[in-house]
Parts: sequence; structure tokens; C-alpha cells
Amino acid sequence: MPRIDRANLDLILLEDAVWVLMGEVGLSSYDFNLSQFFSCRHPWQRPEQITAIGRFGAATNYNELYAQLAAEGIFLIHSPEQYLLASELTHWYPLLAGLTPKSLWFSEPPSFESVAQTLGLPLFLKGSRQTSRHRAALSIIHSAAEYDRAIEMYADDPILQWQDLVCREFIRLRPVPSTATEKIPASFEFRSFWWYSNCVGAGQYWSTDYNWNREEETAALAVAQAAAVRLNLPFVVIDIAQTIAGEWIAIECNDAQESGYGAVSPFTLWRNIIDLELNPSV
Ligand SMILES: Nc1ncnc2c1ncn2[C@@H]1O[C@H](COP(=O)(O)OP(=O)(O)O)[C@@H](O)[C@H]1O
Ligand SMILES: [Mg+2]
Repeated sequence: MPRIDRANLDLILLEDAVWVLMGEVGLSSYDFNLSQFFSCRHPWQRPEQITAIGRFGAATNYNELYAQLAAEGIFLIHSPEQYLLASELTHWYPLLAGLTPKSLWFSEPPSFESVAQTLGLPLFLKGSRQTSRHRAALSIIHSAAEYDRAIEMYADDPILQWQDLVCREFIRLRPVPSTATEKIPASFEFRSFWWYSNCVGAGQYWSTDYNWNREEETAALAVAQAAAVRLNLPFVVIDIAQTIAGEWIAIECNDAQESGYGAVSPFTLWRNIIDLELNPSV
């Protein structure tokens, strides 16, 4: 995750309804040129205090940036506490327990025997914020030898070494067609965006060929909405997956300011947010 520099951020008033603070990340899954589809103004004068959605990617310096912007009268939609609640499993897990796989976390790696006994095998390992680029060998652990090797690699991994170690119960997810690689295999999984607990977009998480039917979508979004309501955040992403038993679970949540769109149409997503802001009674 990079440090975000205020000087590279562009403050836009979208359709006279929503303030967005944009920064280019350089990823096609994340960047979206709002001005190609919407009216985007840079008002010469603005209210002294405004609330803005940050679209500048994952920031290592969110707290500092929040304070710097607040001093200008620009309040990011998530306070530093809300940002942590959306981003770190150690913060969101207590609220989502029961909707998401059972999880434990540690500042120092626990013994393999103790976690395997509590969570069973295989184990799902990740950092409190993310995996190491979805590499299966670092996340799906079947034995003490695999565990030791993963722990060793976590210590050297630039993404994982500064995060708490999270151990999760491994849930068998409904597979979808995908070619075998060293990545975690794709499953029947969807990403959903929630604006004040209203669904403003949902679509496939993996870029392989699968889709939900009406019934599946309804069941999946009910679980995602329950998670969103529990989190009670302005703008959160909930990733949901179907187990091989047919049940829907929340895989994780994230700050939607930082999340890639997945297969969600960015146009529809922003249109929905604008409409909710223009008609707050909905
Ligand atoms: N507890 C689990 N059991 C089985 N599969 C899981 C579990 N947690 C995550 N996965 C699978 O691994 C993928 C990556 O895990 P995730 O927690 O989303 O990591 P990241 O934060 O790096 O995206 C998920 O999209 C899901 O397919
Ligand atoms: Mg994920």
C-alpha cells in the first residue's frame, strides 16, 4: 500500500450531489474516469465543511490524510476508527461472527497443534487485512509442515509481516470453472457495495464465467445486508460466497473507498449513490 499525497488528489463535485476525492491508482479494476459519464465540477467556492468519498486506493497514511483533509474542511466519509472497522478483521470480526468463518488472531504465530485443534484442517491463514496476493500455499494449510513453511514466508512477506496473523476455519466453497494455478481457486463468490446499508452494486468477484440466478442473488444479498447493517458504516464492501452445502457466508468486508469494482458496473454504482443522495428519503 502506498502513502497518498494530498497534492495528487482532485476534489470533484459529482452531479451536484456527491463530493469525491480522486487519485489515480493505475489499476483498471480500480480507476474509473467519472467525468466521461457524469457531470463533474470543480466549484470555485464550496461549503466550509464537506463530506467526501476517497477514491485514491489503499493508503498507508489514512489517519494522517484524514487529519490533513479535515483541517481543510474536507471530511472523508470514514473516520480513522470506521476505516479500521471496515478494513481489519480484528475489528470487524466481533460484529460479523456467525455470518463469517470462525477466526482467531495472534501477534505471534501460535503452535500448529493448538490452532488445528480449535479450527480443524485445513486451516485458512491470512493477515488481518489481506492474504499475500491470493497465493494458495500461504493460505490453505493441511499439515504442520505446510504451516511452518507458511509462517516462515509470512515473516519475509512485505504484505503480511506487519499484519496480525489470522487463522480461520476453512470452509468448502462451491467451485466455479477456473484453471489451476498457485492462486486460491475461484469459487461462487460475489462482491457487494453498501451505501448506508443500501445495496448500490453487486457482481462476480472472480473473473471467470459464472453467475447467480434470482434466488441465489436474493439469498446472498440478504446475508450481505445483514453484515452491512451490523457494521453500520457509510460505504462498505461485503464479499459473499456460497458453501458447497448451499449456505451463503461473508468472506470479508472492506472499506469501499479502497475496493476494486470486481464485475460491478462502476457507472451503475455511482449512479445509485448519486440517486440515494438526491432522494435521501428512499
Ligand atoms: N475461511 C475460508 N475458507 C475457505 N476459503 C476462504 C476462506 N477465507 C477466504 N477464502 C477464499 O480465499 C479468497 C481470498 O481470501 P480473502 O480473505 O478475501 O483475502 P484478501 O483479503 O487477500 O482478498 C476468498 O476470496 C475466498 O475465495
Ligand atoms: Mg478478498
